[in-house]
Amino acid sequence: MEKKPLQFVRRGEIVSLTGVSPARTLLEVLREDLQCTAVKEGCGEGDCGACTVVLAEPEGAGLGYKAINSCIRLAHSVHGLAVWTAQDIGARDGFVTAGPPQGDERPLGGQRPVSAAERGGTVLHPCQQAMVNCHGSQCGFCTPGFVMSLFGMYQNRVLAGQTVSREDAQTDLSGNLCRCTGYRPILDAAQEMGALPRVQVDEAAVLAQLRQIPPAPAADYSTPTRLADLLRLRAEQPQAQLVAGCTDVGLWVTKQHRQFAQVLDVTRVAELRELRQTPGALTIGAAVTLHEAYAALVADRPQLQRFAERFAGLPVRSSGTLGGNVANGSPIGDSMPLLLAMGATLVLASVRGERRVPLDDFYTGYRKNLLAPDEVLAYIEVPRPVAGEPSVGVEYLRVYKISKRQDDDISAVCLALNLQVREGRISSARIGAGGVAATPVRARKTEAALLGQPWARAAFESATPVLQAEFEPISDMRASAAYRRSVLGRLLLRYWAEEQGEPQLEALA
Ligand SMILES: Cc1cc2nc3c(=O)[nH]c(=O)nc-3n(C[C@H](O)[C@H](O)[C@H](O)COP(=O)(O)OP(=O)(O)OC[C@H]3O[C@@H](n4cnc5c(N)ncnc54)[C@H](O)[C@@H]3O)c2cc1C
Ligand code: FES
Ligand code: FES
Repeated sequence: MEKKPLQFVRRGEIVSLTGVSPARTLLEVLREDLQCTAVKEGCGEGDCGACTVVLAEPEGAGLGYKAINSCIRLAHSVHGLAVWTAQDIGARDGFVTAGPPQGDERPLGGQRPVSAAERGGTVLHPCQQAMVNCHGSQCGFCTPGFVMSLFGMYQNRVLAGQTVSREDAQTDLSGNLCRCTGYRPILDAAQEMGALPRVQVDEAAVLAQLRQIPPAPAADYSTPTRLADLLRLRAEQPQAQLVAGCTDVGLWVTKQHRQFAQVLDVTRVAELRELRQTPGALTIGAAVTLHEAYAALVADRPQLQRFAERFAGLPVRSSGTLGGNVANGSPIGDSMPLLLAMGATLVLASVRGERRVPLDDFYTGYRKNLLAPDEVLAYIEVPRPVAGEPSVGVEYLRVYKISKRQDDDISAVCLALNLQVREGRISSARIGAGGVAATPVRARKTEAALLGQPWARAAFESATPVLQAEFEPISDMRASAAYRRSVLGRLLLRYWAEEQGEPQLEALA
């Protein structure tokens, strides 16, 4: 089989590599083929952030930037994109970063490579310089990853004119772990870098190079750009490994050493990257990233903000997709309890046509679902809250994630409650639960116990034993079965207390 080269833009040049097998990771290619040792391998599973790089692709008239974990990202997925590592962001044209913070934009990248002698030594990017100024460069192993998350923040926040708050810095660095001296100097650097003279990627040069790269990558790694092409390929190659952001599949490669003869990547399919809104529903394409999907959900229901930030760290949310989370179907996945509580419907597509399936009916067993071999998950439809409609009632939606750490951790239990109240009574009840059964599941007995009850504490007290008895959770490294049962009941009462204006524990954490 003819091997077309894997091509991407790095350091102002088009990198071209042949013979890269479909299961090789971006980290392997950067370190082993390009000798880019600034990219470190810590955990190899998306947890520590040492391998963070920034990707960019055309967006509007310019580029859109994302910090992602290169250790679990398949190398071919960056064909036709631009890639930056901590080795690539020093200004390389002899300019020094001096001058006022605004209005002194200096080109970075897209220029011809310049030798160290020509530039008289390395010129640090503001995010690197801020790390030096704030003493944020600590053990050295994690620092390149922190720098790249800072670089992503610089592109997305600082150059967009935002002032980086402490909370912004914590959110954007949530995927980078430090176990030595701590985060304070790094958070200081995140806030300091905007005060340094500005440096800007030469986007016109990068875009011109990206246009030179032919769209189709290697024959054993397909990246269709239209839904019809994806469905045709899926029908022709039902055995191909379907991938999206690779934040689950990447671990099958790094931890289980799986190989793939053929990969079908959904992330370039234009239709699957769309977010559409009607007054009644939000339709989220399966390849919309978790970051973007949760931003849309939070826009409708602001109380979901903190929950959204507790899904992994930003690099995983920027790569992983909502469709991947749902299709993967982990019983401890976070989106599904929420989507069950909101009454989401899935659109499954194949060359035979589309069918709509309530998420309630999608899972058939542990990591099993209704998808036929020629089908893909195309869209997730989420009903939007109906405001000021007396026949529907008022929606009270909350979701709780119980995990050992606040940030970047997997749920032991996840519970989403969506009750509607009309004329003082619970007129509708949908409760989604994770971590309590082989699949994400609705708590139907508890819903029945609450339905029609007065909107009062007594209803939640009497439903508590029902919820605690409804499932047979297992004991594992995340929690014991007894803990899971106990916490479920407490969450029901916590939901009631918080709806009555008690302080939210999340806000106190
Ligand atoms: C460090 C780390 C932290 C994490 N934290 C969380 C967390 O807090 N909460 C949580 O829920 N998950 C978490 N995850 C898991 C993961 O991020 C999610 O499950 C993610 O949403 C998967 O999406 P993806 O696009 O990366 O899917 P991929 O890994 O590409 O694919 C996952 C599965 O879905 C299938 N698939 C993907 N797209 C489609 C489609 N359109 N149609 C049919 N099948 C498809 C693939 O074939 C594969 O079987 C974490 C992962 C990591 C590495
Ligand atoms: S090496 Fe730890 S996140 Fe990639
Ligand atoms: S910077 Fe590496 S452990 Fe702190």
